[in-house]
Amino acid sequence: MIETLTVTFEDVQRAAEAVGAALPPTPAWSYPALNATAGCDVIVKHENTQPTGAFKVRGGLALVSAMPAGQLARGLVTASTGNHAQSIAYAARRVGTVATVVVPETAPACKVEAVRMLGATVVTFGPTMKEAAEHARELAEAGGLIYVDPGNTPAIIAGHATVYLELLTRFPDLQAIYVPIGSGTGAAGACVVRDRLAPDCRIIGVQSSAAPAAYDSWTSGRLEAAPCHTRHSGLATGSGFALPQSILGPGLHDFLLVDDDEIADAASILAHQAHTLAEGAGAASLAGLLRDPDHPERCAVICTGGNASPEEVVALGARSA
Ligand SMILES: Cc1ncc(COP(=O)(O)O)c(C=O)c1O
Repeated sequence: MIETLTVTFEDVQRAAEAVGAALPPTPAWSYPALNATAGCDVIVKHENTQPTGAFKVRGGLALVSAMPAGQLARGLVTASTGNHAQSIAYAARRVGTVATVVVPETAPACKVEAVRMLGATVVTFGPTMKEAAEHARELAEAGGLIYVDPGNTPAIIAGHATVYLELLTRFPDLQAIYVPIGSGTGAAGACVVRDRLAPDCRIIGVQSSAAPAAYDSWTSGRLEAAPCHTRHSGLATGSGFALPQSILGPGLHDFLLVDDDEIADAASILAHQAHTLAEGAGAASLAGLLRDPDHPERCAVICTGGNASPEEVVALGARSA
């Protein structure tokens, strides 16, 4: 575990200033039909309405606002399956620097195209995020670029935490928030904010059983690698990340695994009952709530992203919700 890095509530407040300078708060409200399906009051936080289609845009904005100008001028390089990539591309463009993103061969074409449209250089490398991240590090070393670690960067976690600052400021009586986990940055941010604003609110992580590295790491207390076969790209990580895990360890109330089909069903439910387009990772938190027999009365789910592939959009109609 990385013991020297931390994320404080004050970091989150600073990140909120940077994010708020660029973007309005996202909507958060409930829907009677969804409440009936879930059997409790559910607030949906609509991060799919962000300009990049995902909550990750907050991390990029917080990062560039915290970086010295001299570092920014060197340009950024990172690795991602798509939403963190769009975030870095968006933030780099906003401050007038360049970004290179290494994507694994499995990254969805629609996300890769969106990264290009934001002006970043896209390099496709390797079958998984592991190889893509190694290559991004090599590019940083060879070209003098700043490598942005998608999971272990405090400013990015602080940026992602602003989702929960908005949510818990507006709904301090929430009893549980279900948060999808890939690397764990979003859920770690949720824990930091919960600790300060709503100590009794449960933060419950949700991951695909087809890519359980973060779950395995949380369960064992060590950084674990695990097979990564999920078709939901935002959740496709093959190993635990040290900084998020150091926060999730004491911070998560529970961690649920759901299968890829349950996630797809939850995306369909969001489409039909919450008028919302979610990609798989964006529907995972609802899948977790629907799977949880112990859910309390007043819950929130985070629709973390809406960058659904054409296949995912077609599947929305095929499932009965
Ligand atoms: C839409 C969406 N939801 C959830 C996640 C998981 O977030 P984290 O990697 O911070 O755990 C991602 C990661 O890219 C994502 O794109």
